[in-house]
Amino acid sequence: MEKENKNRSVSVPIEEKKDFVHEKFSAVTAKYDFLNSLLSLGIDRLWRYKTVKTLRDTQGPILDICAGTLPLSREVFRQTRLHVIALDFCFDMLRYGLSRLSRQEAKFIHCVCGDGENLPLPSQTFGGFTVAFGIRNLADLEKGFSEMYRVLRPGGKGAILEFSRPSIPVFKQIYRFYLHRILPRIGGLISGDKEAYVYLAESIQGFFSQEEVCTMLKKSGFVDVTYRPMTFGIVTLYCCKRPG
Ligand SMILES: C[S@@+](CC[C@H](N)C(=O)[O-])C[C@H]1O[C@@H](n2cnc3c(N)ncnc32)[C@H](O)[C@@H]1O
Repeated sequence: MEKENKNRSVSVPIEEKKDFVHEKFSAVTAKYDFLNSLLSLGIDRLWRYKTVKTLRDTQGPILDICAGTLPLSREVFRQTRLHVIALDFCFDMLRYGLSRLSRQEAKFIHCVCGDGENLPLPSQTFGGFTVAFGIRNLADLEKGFSEMYRVLRPGGKGAILEFSRPSIPVFKQIYRFYLHRILPRIGGLISGDKEAYVYLAESIQGFFSQEEVCTMLKKSGFVDVTYRPMTFGIVTLYCCKRPG
């Protein structure tokens, strides 16, 4: 019985992925930030810090796609003091994030509820964009990348943070055990939605390799595409630029 449930979330057909992802994030909204910090032992802050650092010399405004409860949007504002457009298709995530902004942050962080694969935003508008733990959730990643390219001004930069799979022997096996056996249990217990965390584990396992992500970014027109694994390859930071 349990196996069937697990498989249901793993084999989400592409045309149902958007609804599935939307439903799952709506279900875990209130516990999302807490679980993020708990399951990453607080390292997620450092990952976001490093992501934004790559955009420090960028002009605004900055677009934060798949912004969720706004942790990366806040980090962008903290480091750059630029205006940030925070986009997510899950209204509950944005609303929860908005309710936690300081008065000053609220003047600079502006939320847009919309689809990352069909951005409701004009072309060549942003000096930079960020995405943290979002690209894995897009149903059509190539479409997402081409939209990121479209809204970026010539010379603008992108910074994408995403989970990846460690390649170091032994650590790789331990991480896999954590991902599939421990994470869904703790995540499910605290959030009340185990399926969301089974999906998290499976989506990390089934996601493109770093090289494949870079190839797709280049195919979308980006140049200066690089990637940097962090924390033994648990996450990877991708950087890219729209030619000037
Ligand atoms: C794992 S959360 C990441 C939130 C945040 N960036 C962070 O650093 O924690 C992924 C977010 O992507 C959003 N998302 C997934 N697919 C999307 C899409 N097609 N368009 C807009 N947002 C999407 C979800 O609603 C969710 O809030």
